[in-house]
Amino acid sequence: MPIPDTDVISATDFRTDTDTRIHTLVPPAAAQFPGPADELPAAASPPDLVLQQVRDELALDGSAQRNLATFVTTWMEPQARQLMAETAEKNLADRAEYPQITAMEERCVRMLARLWHAPHPEQVRGCSTTGSSEAAMLGGLALKRRWQQRRRAQGKDTARPNVVMGANVQVCWKKFANYFEVEPRYVPMEPGRYHLTPDTLTAYCDDNTIGVVTVLGSTYDGSYEPVADICMALDGYQAATGTDIPVHVDGASGAMVAPFLDPGLMWDFQLERVASINTSGHKYGHVFPGLGWALWRDAEALPDDLVFEVDYLGGSSPSFTLNFSRPGAHVVAQYYSFLRYGFEGLRHLAVENRRTARALATRIRAVGPYELVTDGSELPALAFRLAHGTHGFTVFDVSRAMHARGWQLPAYAFPAPCQDVSVLRLVVRTGFTAELAGAFIADLTEVTRQLRLRRSMPAPAVKPLVVAAEPAHANTSA
Ligand SMILES: Cc1ncc(COP(=O)(O)O)c(C=O)c1O
Repeated sequence: MPIPDTDVISATDFRTDTDTRIHTLVPPAAAQFPGPADELPAAASPPDLVLQQVRDELALDGSAQRNLATFVTTWMEPQARQLMAETAEKNLADRAEYPQITAMEERCVRMLARLWHAPHPEQVRGCSTTGSSEAAMLGGLALKRRWQQRRRAQGKDTARPNVVMGANVQVCWKKFANYFEVEPRYVPMEPGRYHLTPDTLTAYCDDNTIGVVTVLGSTYDGSYEPVADICMALDGYQAATGTDIPVHVDGASGAMVAPFLDPGLMWDFQLERVASINTSGHKYGHVFPGLGWALWRDAEALPDDLVFEVDYLGGSSPSFTLNFSRPGAHVVAQYYSFLRYGFEGLRHLAVENRRTARALATRIRAVGPYELVTDGSELPALAFRLAHGTHGFTVFDVSRAMHARGWQLPAYAFPAPCQDVSVLRLVVRTGFTAELAGAFIADLTEVTRQLRLRRSMPAPAVKPLVVAAEPAHANTSA
C-alpha cells in the first residue's frame, strides 16, 4: 500500500473499522448488562450501564471510614484527589516524557532525607515504590548485596546469608527472606515483650548476618522498637567480634509519625548504623494506596550494581525498583501532601491522631473486661485483649459482632510462644473523627454487654430445623 503524503494524512487514515465500531457502538435498546461475570463478555455494553453495574458491585464493600484494621490512607482532600485524577495516565517509568514527576519524586526523597536527619541529604539515594513491601525487598536486597561484596573481598563464601528480626515483623520481611533466599532468624516474643529488643538480639547474629531489621511501629500492636538500643547492642557486638552489621528501619507507619510527635527519639539516620529506611507514603504520608519510599544513607549503602540505567523510553535514568511501569499520580499526590501540610500541618494531623487514640484507650479500659497491650502513645494504634479470667466469649466473638455493625476490628493471636495472647487492634487515621470514635465506643459497649448477657443466659433447647420447601419460582424480592 502506498504511504500517503504527510500533508494529506488525516485522523481517518489511522482509524480502523474496529475503532469506528467501538466508538460509535450503540447497543440494542433492550440490552441489559448481564451482572457480575468471570468470563469476558462476548460484546461491548454501553458505558453508563457498566458504570452503574460496577458501582453497584462496589457498594457491597465495607466502609473505609469504619475500617479500623488498616494503616492505609482512606481520606484525601478533594484537591489531592483532583491532582491524582489529572495525572492518572502518567507512567512514572516514562521519565523522559514526564521529567516534572521525576523531579517531584527526587524532591520528596530530599524532604524525607532531611526529615530523617541524614547527615548529608545530597548523598542520600532513594526512590518511590508501590508500598513498604517493595521498599523492604529493595532494602533487604541492598543489605544482601553489600554482605556478598564484603565476603567476596575477604575471600569468604556467600552461601548462607541470614537476616535477624523480631517475630513481629510484617509479612513483607518473611516474603523477602523466602523470595531472595536469605535465612530468616526471628527473635521470639516473650510474655510482656512483643517486639525486638536488644537483650537477646546478638545471640542470633553471626558472620553471615546481612543486617538487622527493626520496626518503627510494630504491625501487631503499634509499639516502637528501641532502634537506638538495638544499634548500641550491635556496636557492642562489633567491638567483641569485629563483625559490622547494618540496620534497616522498617518505618512503614512510624517514619511518618515519630518525626512529628517524638522529636527526641533516636531512630533514624542520626544513628550511624542505620543504613536504610522505608516508609509507606500511603499510610501516614496521606496518599491513597500504592506508594512507598526507600532511602539509603549514601551510595555505599546502595551498591551501584543494583541500579540499572534505562533508556528504552527516551533519555537515560537510574532504576532500582522491582516494577517498571507504575502510576505517577501517587508521587504527585505525595508532593501535594508535603507542600500542602508542611511540617506543622503533618504534626497537627499526627497530634490529632494520637490524641484520639489515647482517648479511645481510656474509654476502652472503661468498657470493662479489656486490658490494653498498647495505648496509642507510639503509633496512633492500640491493641487490647480480654483481661485474665473467664469471660464466656473471646476477642474473636467481639470482632465478629463489631463486624456485624460495620466495623472492621481485627482479632488475631500473637506468634508462638505468645500464641495465647489474642488481641483486637484499632488503628486511628486522619478522618477518624471524634463522632466516629464516640460511635465506636457505643457499639463496643453494646456488643460487650450482649456477649456478657449471652454468657449468663441458659443455652436454648435445640429444636429440629424445619426448612420450608421453596416454590419453583419464588419471588425473592421483599
Ligand atoms: C511494619 C510494616 N512493614 C511493612 C508493611 C507493608 O506495607 P505496605 O502495605 O505499604 O506494602 C506494613 C503494613 O502494614 C507494616 O505495618
